[in-house]
Amino acid sequence: MKSHIGLIGLAVMGQNLALNIARKGYKVSVYNRTAQRTEMFVKNRVRNEEIEAHYDIKKFVESLEKPRKIILMVKAGKPVDDTISQLLPYLEPGDLIIDGGNSHYMDTERRYEELSKKGILFLGMGVSGGERGALHGPSLMPGGSKEAYALVEEILLKIAAKTDDGPCCTYVGERSAGHFVKMVHNGIEYTIMQAIAEIYHIMRDVMKLVPEEMSQIFEEWNKGELNSFLIEITYKILRKKDEETGRPMVDVILDKAEQKGTGKWTSQAALDLGIPTPSINLAVVERIISHFKNERVKLSKLYNKKRNTVQKSDNLIKDLENALFFAMLAAFSQGMWLIAEASEEFNYNIDLPEVLRIWKGGCIIRARLIDTIRKHVSYNNAYLLGSKEMISLLEDRLDSLKRVLRMAVDNEIPVPAMSSAYNYFMSMTEEKLPANLIQAQRDFFGAHMFQRIDKEGVFHIDWEEGEIV
Ligand SMILES: NC(=O)c1ccc[n+]([C@@H]2O[C@H](COP(=O)([O-])OP(=O)(O)OC[C@H]3O[C@@H](n4cnc5c(N)ncnc54)[C@H](OP(=O)(O)O)[C@@H]3O)[C@@H](O)[C@H]2O)c1
Repeated sequence: MKSHIGLIGLAVMGQNLALNIARKGYKVSVYNRTAQRTEMFVKNRVRNEEIEAHYDIKKFVESLEKPRKIILMVKAGKPVDDTISQLLPYLEPGDLIIDGGNSHYMDTERRYEELSKKGILFLGMGVSGGERGALHGPSLMPGGSKEAYALVEEILLKIAAKTDDGPCCTYVGERSAGHFVKMVHNGIEYTIMQAIAEIYHIMRDVMKLVPEEMSQIFEEWNKGELNSFLIEITYKILRKKDEETGRPMVDVILDKAEQKGTGKWTSQAALDLGIPTPSINLAVVERIISHFKNERVKLSKLYNKKRNTVQKSDNLIKDLENALFFAMLAAFSQGMWLIAEASEEFNYNIDLPEVLRIWKGGCIIRARLIDTIRKHVSYNNAYLLGSKEMISLLEDRLDSLKRVLRMAVDNEIPVPAMSSAYNYFMSMTEEKLPANLIQAQRDFFGAHMFQRIDKEGVFHIDWEEGEIV
């Protein structure tokens, strides 16, 4: 019997996705560039699942029922192109390749074009949820043609995470829409992680709490409106002890945050499309700053932080909770606006509430507040602040956020995610920004012209009469 589907790339994600598919009753053929990885997978992890291992890519393709459906879970970038090139000689028009890696959406756009010309169907599919998600139910964000999606819809719906709003998978939109949405998902993820880290920083260095105490607070928050995967893992992390030293695990981890690029791509795309995503941008920047450990250590000896201890109180904890909620909402707000703009610009035809629906489960940014956002988001107010309800939600927490920011400033704690959320809100709700002065400066030194408030047209004046001759 031929396999229903094939999967290439047996690192952590590929192994778990293959097992997930097989456990839903499908026969899966697998292949990996390095044979040893395939052997280890079969030996250590495959039990009763119908998984057929192949060590020759031609035989792997031949083992699949037609039209063939092949998921790639290989490293993003050149490995995806290399694997597609190796597959092409054995594929026929109508066969389908699904790239489930974190590919850049422009690469997906190019691959979609190139494969279309050869009659090969292509889906660029964002997969979120890490290795556990891949095994037990990820959030899946496939984009491409509807015809291609129809070929694998049944399988994808079965393997995806389930919520009270159905499986966390939908046809996201045209061409590279799936990878664009996954990229923004990761940008939001970076931002929420940064905001949580800022709260942790205040708890550690101003409130002088130990990780166990922090863990209890995060656990309580997870029962309320902050309920989310990232808050849940945070309280579990803060509780974990290092087996070697007995110290809290978080205390023995070096403060240098790595990144694989999806947050940076989100900021780059936002800057290219002209959509403000300040909190996402700063979350990326803060990871970069974290890397300059030696420089930070040197500078910390040249500047003594002025820092006091602030006692824990119920009011303060409520303020921190509200400030975090504000920052999370701002992160989603910025991300949704970016997706909306990309959908218009690239004709993706993305259904915004539907994207939020598939983020309710399986993925890293799943959070209770997504339900609230879903009720209010539309293309008319994709920036979310366009709805009165959203403004009220933020306004209700504004005083808390201000108090937390003041405390951070007074105690010299960097809080880029929370302060940028505040500034984003303040700029977006400002009827009259000081950009008129910037326009005057531009016109002064570069004759860049300006618009007037009292008549149509663009104008330039000689700002220093007689200076330039
Ligand atoms: N890890 C996560 O939590 C996560 C979550 C969501 C999405 N993703 C994305 O899912 C994809 C897979 O992630 P991963 O963490 O499981 O693995 P990974 O470390 O990103 O990639 C390793 C896999 O890529 C293959 N590979 C590397 N270079 C290759 C080449 N030139 N030709 C063919 N195959 C090549 C490796 O084969 P060999 O064994 O031969 O080296 C291995 O199967 C990535 O795009 C990743 O960004 C990962």
